[in-house]
Amino acid sequence: MCGIVGYVGSNLAYPILIDGLKKLEYRGYDSAGVALHTGKALEVYKKEGKVAALEDYVYGKNIQATVGIGHTRWATHGVPSDRNAHPHYSNSGNIAMIHNGIIENYAQLKSELVQKGYTFASDTDSEVLLNFIEDIKINNDCSLEEAVRIALKRVVGAYVILLIDQDLPDTIIAARKGSPLVIGIGNNAHYLGSDASPMLAYTKEVVYINDYELAIVRPDELILKNLGNERITPFVQKLDIELAAIEKGGYDHFMLKEIFEQPQTIFDSLRGRLDAEHQHITLSGVDKIKEKLIHANRVIIVACGTSWHAGLLAEYVIEELCRINVEVEYASEFRYRNPIITDKDVIIAVSQSGETADTLVAIENAKKQGATIFGLVNVVGSSIARMSDAGAYTHAGPEIGVASTKAFTAQLAVLYLIALKVAYEKQTIDKTLFNKLLGDLAKVPQYVQDILEEQDAAIKEIANKYADARDFLYLGRGFNFPIALEGALKLKEISYIHAEGYPAAEMKHGPIALVDENLPVVFVATKDSYHEKIVSNIQEIKARKGQVIAVVSQGDNVVAGLADDVMVVPQIHEILAPILSVVPLQLLSYYIGINRGLDVDKPRNLAKSVTVE
Ligand code: M6R
Repeated sequence: MCGIVGYVGSNLAYPILIDGLKKLEYRGYDSAGVALHTGKALEVYKKEGKVAALEDYVYGKNIQATVGIGHTRWATHGVPSDRNAHPHYSNSGNIAMIHNGIIENYAQLKSELVQKGYTFASDTDSEVLLNFIEDIKINNDCSLEEAVRIALKRVVGAYVILLIDQDLPDTIIAARKGSPLVIGIGNNAHYLGSDASPMLAYTKEVVYINDYELAIVRPDELILKNLGNERITPFVQKLDIELAAIEKGGYDHFMLKEIFEQPQTIFDSLRGRLDAEHQHITLSGVDKIKEKLIHANRVIIVACGTSWHAGLLAEYVIEELCRINVEVEYASEFRYRNPIITDKDVIIAVSQSGETADTLVAIENAKKQGATIFGLVNVVGSSIARMSDAGAYTHAGPEIGVASTKAFTAQLAVLYLIALKVAYEKQTIDKTLFNKLLGDLAKVPQYVQDILEEQDAAIKEIANKYADARDFLYLGRGFNFPIALEGALKLKEISYIHAEGYPAAEMKHGPIALVDENLPVVFVATKDSYHEKIVSNIQEIKARKGQVIAVVSQGDNVVAGLADDVMVVPQIHEILAPILSVVPLQLLSYYIGINRGLDVDKPRNLAKSVTVE
């Protein structure tokens, strides 16, 4: 993970770097640092903790430089500390480097360097790579660019690296493999970042750097080469994100802002695709691989975390509507367990960031075995989007809160569209149901708006009542089971309360032993085919003195009569109910986190984009 920024131009680099690091803090916040080229020397300032701690530390120090690089860290090798913070100096002190990724063969490289007399000021793999580069530069008497190229041919792992060299006062050398790097083109300036957010205030023209590419970046020049030293013409793209989309806009936290953006982001994800009036779905990505999908042997959904929960719901929906076998795989398991894949399989990779390392490698492997890859991704131009044969973007806009909210509901919206379109093409859905689901789906943005307006205050009170609980159980059946998992994940991430999601009926096979008067049990119990069954499950919890909080459909007096507290959502077709049921659970987690005084936008130990395995 980690966030990286860089600037070369004619303005002061430091404020641009700090501002960029704040925008990238969602990628990691164990430490932060900058390296500045003052024209005469390299100055490195770094500090354990968030970017704010770095700012305090740098206050009053020399920041007179128009070239610099910056880093916000999510620790992999070495504990969060000042000494393990980036940037690192090379042994000579002539080069400074930042790194996002993992160098897997660092131990071997390090022992070679130690034998040559190199010493290390940190426990990081990154410092090993830096000194490996310096060693090549010295031994071959070559340029830094050449040394980087030679070094990277021996490196196993994933990286984005940015380097500045005392002898090159106007240059940043950058390279990538497996971690994201964007370069923004300004007016006699260039901006570098893990994503485009640090450069949005300055330029809309960007180049997404590909794996095994190396960039030589100067104020007036961007040279792109491959590792064979051949020039590549940069492909300049225009960003269509506005700066306001990555700011808090009056909300206390990004997470709350993003929860409240959902009526719009779901609408945006459906816009131009769902035409309920004329009963039509337009999805060019599905059209592109229509025959593959209709005749697919299996659809395999590969994802991690919240995106995996979206995939699990899609399994229920696609099997129900399209009658295609679906498997949902944790990307981290799928990539290592030698799965049987054929050219009749279609892989749907679900990812907000489009950069999750496990998902990326899982689809890379599946592609090699002949599968067709469909990417469902939020970040435009991300690695997964680029690796896919076809795909659809969720139009959730930048998601900054580390806990995913609006990206999840946008994923569900587009997955529903995919399932409905394939079912229609495959003729596995009758026209009445198709029209009903299209009509109901079109109403979802308004229904979510209703939940936010009508339930927010009540959910805040429920959150205050249960904020001191030690554990939570989340239960749901059928289409609502993935929402029970997602509700539990959200609570864990934001409040650090232990929470488990379970199929409501499976609860009798173990977790029921946890139930006593201190255990809040959240039931996702909207009106559906399993309603009577889940009412029985609620009775079973009440009989053991558990406290029941239920997500219920409007007008459901049965569950409302049994539960201690309820969160009400509008009645909708049961297939679509999950996209509504999750919203109260997001608010519940948010308010419990706030009640406990926690940093909900940057929960401990987490990072937004998991670009390491
Ligand atoms: O960017 P991705 O959707 O691929 O990320 C997957 C997970 O890392 C992510 O959903 C994670 O679980 C979130 N913190 C959930 O809130």
